[in-house]
Amino acid sequence: MRIDVVTIFPEYLEPLNVSLVGKARARGLLDVHVHDLRNWTHDRHHTVDDTPYGGGPGMVMKPEPWGEALDEIIGAAEPPPVLVVPTPSGRRFDQKLAVELSAAPWLVFTPARYEGIDRRVIDEYASRLDVREVSVGDYVLAGGEAPVLVMVEAVARLLPGVLGNAESHQDDSFAAGPMAQLLEGPVYTKPPEWRDRGIPDVLLSGHHGRIARWRRDQALARTAANRPDLIARCDPASLDKHDRAE
Ligand code: ADE
Repeated sequence: MRIDVVTIFPEYLEPLNVSLVGKARARGLLDVHVHDLRNWTHDRHHTVDDTPYGGGPGMVMKPEPWGEALDEIIGAAEPPPVLVVPTPSGRRFDQKLAVELSAAPWLVFTPARYEGIDRRVIDEYASRLDVREVSVGDYVLAGGEAPVLVMVEAVARLLPGVLGNAESHQDDSFAAGPMAQLLEGPVYTKPPEWRDRGIPDVLLSGHHGRIARWRRDQALARTAANRPDLIARCDPASLDKHDRAE
């Protein structure tokens, strides 16, 4: 997969050199290009913002640098990339969208600062390619760079070959499958005793059926405590008779 990020803070994207994403790049599974938007300005001050029409606080990102940057990066490429615009006014990013984006061969991210990008830029590119305005949560950050880091990591770990064990995202909280809609329960490793705290007996029993049942009960309890909204939205067909017993 190819990923381009256009930003006025290229250094903010340095974490893309580290850990899972960094290793995926080093192994050639991910081709990441970070661009400085100011390279597409032509004045002495490399201006990227201006005052909003209609008044109001803050500044708006000017359309010209974005247009020149995106035209140069995207060119006449076929198929064109999916353009991902981080904004608190976008559709909420979730695992389903991560899976959808992970199927695209090319993503271009346009993290904005200030009050956002002149609307005409989004409208212009939406007329030619798939544009997704995406929010990472119901809070307002100072810019879209941190959301890009979040989205790239969520997408990268779904790419074939990126995770060591191909199955290791099957049980993730929010993944599809038998535990869909449930948060992951607690996990334990050695030593068997730490500060007088042991391991739940069932995990030492070697009884796979009981372990699976216990994990599901833990997942249900944690979901009910932390995310009752997920239980409320749960497809009743995904519950079994043991789930209902309590
Ligand atoms: N930019 C500022 N806040 C944001 C958010 N919550 N999601 C995506 N982009 C943003």
